[in-house]
Parts: sequence; structure tokens; C-alpha cells
Amino acid sequence: MDRDTKIREELEQKEVRKIDMSKEKSRAGKEKQQKDQTKSKWSDWLFLRRPPALLDPIRRLFEPPRKLLEPYIKKGQMVADLGCGSGYYTLPLAEFVGPEGKVYAVDLGKNCIRALEKKIEKGGYRNIEAHASSASDVSFIRDRSVDFVLANGLLCSMADHRKAAVNEIKRILKVKRQAYLSLGAGPPFGYVDQEEWEKILERFRVEQGGSYKEKWAVVSIKQG
Ligand SMILES: C[S@@+](CC[C@H](N)C(=O)[O-])C[C@H]1O[C@@H](n2cnc3c(N)ncnc32)[C@H](O)[C@@H]1O
Repeated sequence: MDRDTKIREELEQKEVRKIDMSKEKSRAGKEKQQKDQTKSKWSDWLFLRRPPALLDPIRRLFEPPRKLLEPYIKKGQMVADLGCGSGYYTLPLAEFVGPEGKVYAVDLGKNCIRALEKKIEKGGYRNIEAHASSASDVSFIRDRSVDFVLANGLLCSMADHRKAAVNEIKRILKVKRQAYLSLGAGPPFGYVDQEEWEKILERFRVEQGGSYKEKWAVVSIKQG
């Protein structure tokens, strides 16, 4: 074999190896993507779950919405129910604020919002604005326009962008008004561990609750 043929063969072999490696890379990439998708499906199942609306009558016995809402809500107020599910708290909120008030109901789950819209229609509510959207971007709500934010079981259910959701709560809440934050559960059933919970609360003035054991807090905007 002459020198030129040898060099050509070596170059060809190098090229084949390069193609094989890039095929291997793209196969590994695809596998990772598929794995991530499976992971997010499992976590959706695990973390986006909520008590089925069928159980609402039983839930009402143990967790009457009035008990949580009554101290904070007045007629005519603007409120936001972030991570509203199918509206366990949204409808009572709408009753509390009355026709002069307004409830923004936000949930990432389209099915939740669909179920809520049916309830809104059936009940003839005109003061609820429902959005299938992430709590990490509620740009349809104006800065400092909301008298009360309810984020019941929201942050622990958010796989990501929790910091952005907290930013949004801070942005929309009026000064000297309250937000109710609660975690349904800590890891492995919810995303927020004690360190993160404490960091979240550091960004507000804590008015009530706040311990990780209790997993709820009433907070307001820090001033000054
Ligand atoms: C534990 S459930 C609580 C539902 C409702 N607040 C209640 O008390 O019945 C949490 C809700 O947060 C919603 N969620 C999860 N991630 C979200 C996100 N990024 N933005 C808005 N809602 C989200 C889920 O779809 C689910 O309905």
C-alpha cells in the first residue's frame, strides 16, 4: 500500500469513528430526554395531585374554608387564589368578596381550570377570573393590586420556578395586606424542604405561623 492510500484509509476510519460517536451522543441525549419526560410525568402524578373534588364535602368538615378565610377577607376586595385546584377555596372567596370584589383563580392544571369554569358557570359567579397558567407568571394581575393571596398547597406542588412564584406574590400583594402560604407536605411528597421554607419566609414579614412543623404562614410585604 502506498503512503497516500494509507493516509486516505486512516482519514476515512477517523471519519467513521466521528460519525459513530456523534450517533452515540445523540442516542444518549434522546435517552436522557425520554428519561426526563418520564420523570416529569411521575412527578406530575405525584405532585400535581390534589384531593378529588368528590371528597370536598368530607374535606369541608375538617377544613371549613370559612375558618381560614374569614379573618382576612372583606367585601369588595381583590384576591388571588394561586394553585386554586378545582376551586375548593375559590368559590367561598368569591362569596366573601361579593359582586364588588374579584377573585383571580390560577392553576397550571388545565383540567382544574376547566372543572372550575363549570362550577363558575353553574353557580353564576361573575367575579371570578380563571387562568390556566403558572403561578410563576401572573402578569395579568397588576402590581400591588391584591388584598389577599391564597397559596394553599401551591409551593410544595411546584416542581420548579418557586422563586418566581414568590416574586409574583410579592409583586401583586398590596402593602400591609396578607398572603397565606402553606405546604401540603415536605419532601419526598412535596418539593419544599425546611431550608427553602425558611428562605421563602425571610423574604416576607411573618405575621402568624411560620414553623416548618406547622407548614403554614400568614405573611405580608416587608417594608423599608
Ligand atoms: C395541593 S393542590 C391545592 C389546591 C387548592 N389550593 C386547594 O386547597 O384545594 C396544589 C395545586 O397547585 C397546582 N400547581 C402546581 N404547580 C403549579 C404552578 N406552577 N402554577 C400554578 N399552579 C400549580 C396544582 O395543579 C394543584 O391544583
